[in-house]
Amino acid sequence: MPAASPVSSAINAASQAFDVRPLEGKVGAEIVGLDLSRPLNDADFARVHQAHLDYHVVIFRDQHITPQQQIDFSRRFGILQIHVLKQFLLANHPEIFIVSNIVENGQPVGLGDAGKYWHSDLSYKELPSLGSMLYAQELPSEGGDTLFADMHRAWDTLPQALRDAVEGKVAVHSYTARYAEGKNAASWRPTLTGEQLSQVAEVTHPVVRTHPETGRKGLFVSEGFTTRIVGLPEDESRALLDQLYAHSTRPENVYRHHWQPDDLVFWDNRSLIHLATGCPPELRRKLLRTTIQGDASF
Ligand code: OGA
Ligand code: MN
Repeated sequence: MPAASPVSSAINAASQAFDVRPLEGKVGAEIVGLDLSRPLNDADFARVHQAHLDYHVVIFRDQHITPQQQIDFSRRFGILQIHVLKQFLLANHPEIFIVSNIVENGQPVGLGDAGKYWHSDLSYKELPSLGSMLYAQELPSEGGDTLFADMHRAWDTLPQALRDAVEGKVAVHSYTARYAEGKNAASWRPTLTGEQLSQVAEVTHPVVRTHPETGRKGLFVSEGFTTRIVGLPEDESRALLDQLYAHSTRPENVYRHHWQPDDLVFWDNRSLIHLATGCPPELRRKLLRTTIQGDASF
């Protein structure tokens, strides 16, 4: 299916009455009253698309959709990316990646420690992801929130000395650098095969990236996948990255999403980085993710 081409059956669908309600602060909007199990006509799709660009993360409440409907909706934004960890892809729907801490018959049903460091999804690829959709299936009674940091605001508020230090620089992003870190990593993260390693070879991206649709600049580094700034001695690169991370994730720059049942959350990986806060291991948490391929960075 070509990128971002509207599903043809959707064009004549009736408009749905729905609200886009910005959250407090600059990041995030709730979308209330839209039923994603029904086809979206082009006008409704355009409103959702615009809200995604304006607020960087949109929260669709009260959704009851099938995996295929999640895939079809995601595809309206672009080509879907298939995750390198094949064992956590949903059966018969490889476009869906399972994020879960549940272990059944000794087998993890999904990636249990997804997002334990701040990151932008698939920034370790030449074509990083435009956005990701995460659809709640089972939520813990405590914990399990997801944090989102606004990287445009991080850039806009960055002290001049740091701006001068990073403008024009590129940084290396690596899937494998922190792959096996963390106390439970072994249970979720198998040794990657040669074939898998070749799919996640290191790439570089500009430290300051331009959003291809809005033209806004944003920082594009994160502790999860960025390993160094090219052209600087290791200690300087480390010190600079640490300052950028600290600045990006200051509390005033962060939206905390507390999940409600049947939430589907769609964020822009070109504008935000995100972090899973985790939950007590005995509480079950399961979400389904689709990931949309974006443009080459510039
Ligand atoms: C992801 C991710 C965070 C969470 O699925 O890409 O980072 O809170 N998840 O599950
Ligand atoms: Mn993620």
